Order: sequence, then structure tokens, then C-alpha cells
Amino acid sequence: MIERDRELLAQAVAAAEHAYAPYSQFHVGAALRARDGRVFEGVNVENAAYPLGICAERSALARAVQEGLRPGDLETIAITASPCGGCRQWLIEFKLDSVVYRRSDGEVVVATPAELLPDTFEL
Ligand code: THU
Repeated sequence: MIERDRELLAQAVAAAEHAYAPYSQFHVGAALRARDGRVFEGVNVENAAYPLGICAERSALARAVQEGLRPGDLETIAITASPCGGCRQWLIEFKLDSVVYRRSDGEVVVATPAELLPDTFEL
């Protein structure tokens, strides 16, 4: 793993402290690096109506979109957990180059969105 990705994962770990996860107690942080060098952090935000919660990856991507970034503008996302299926579809949508995450067994994985979700649906 390259040094920049190691730093990005460290930012995701720090961001996870701000997660709002009173129901699962599973705090997730994400740090998303844009091609222009900006980093957008995200955390999971849960809700008493469980399905309304949002994952850390999607909250980071939503922040980037709010700042005007679009598919192709984003380079790498680092996540403190393995991305869920829905988030993998989001990673495909935004055409990230790479995804760095720490698996539950502690191993750090670097993969492309297509490796994480092959043969994807496209509109
Ligand atoms: N979670 C994420 O934030 N990202 C993922 O990709 C996996 C799951 C969150 C959602 C929920 O708040 C908690 O982890 C437990 O599922």
C-alpha cells in the first residue's frame, strides 16, 4: 500500500470517532481523496428507524457531491470496514480508481470498485 493510502486510512480511522451508531455500536469512518487533493470524510449515521441509517462511504460521497465533485473527480476512498453491497454500487457510480479498507480480520485490502462488484448494472 502506498503512503498516501496509508494516511487516508488513518484519516478514516480518526473520522470513525464521530460516527453516530447507537444501535449497532459499529463505528465506521471513510476518507475520500479527490484528484485535486481534497479529502472528504464521512461516518455512518444511524436512526431508530433502522433502514434510514446511512453508511460512512455514502456520507463521504454526498459531501463531495455537495462541493461540486462528480464521477471521475475522485481517486480513492479508505474505509474502516469492508464496504456493504449498496456502497459498492456507489463506488462504481463515482468511478473511483481504488478502494482501501480494513477487513474484520484486520487485513488491509486495496481493490478497484469493479473487483468489489463485477459485471455491474449500468443505466
Ligand atoms: N456500515 C457502513 O457505514 N459502511 C459499510 O459499508 C458497512 C456498514 C454501517 C451501517 C451501520 O450503521 C453499521 O455499519 C452496522 O451495519
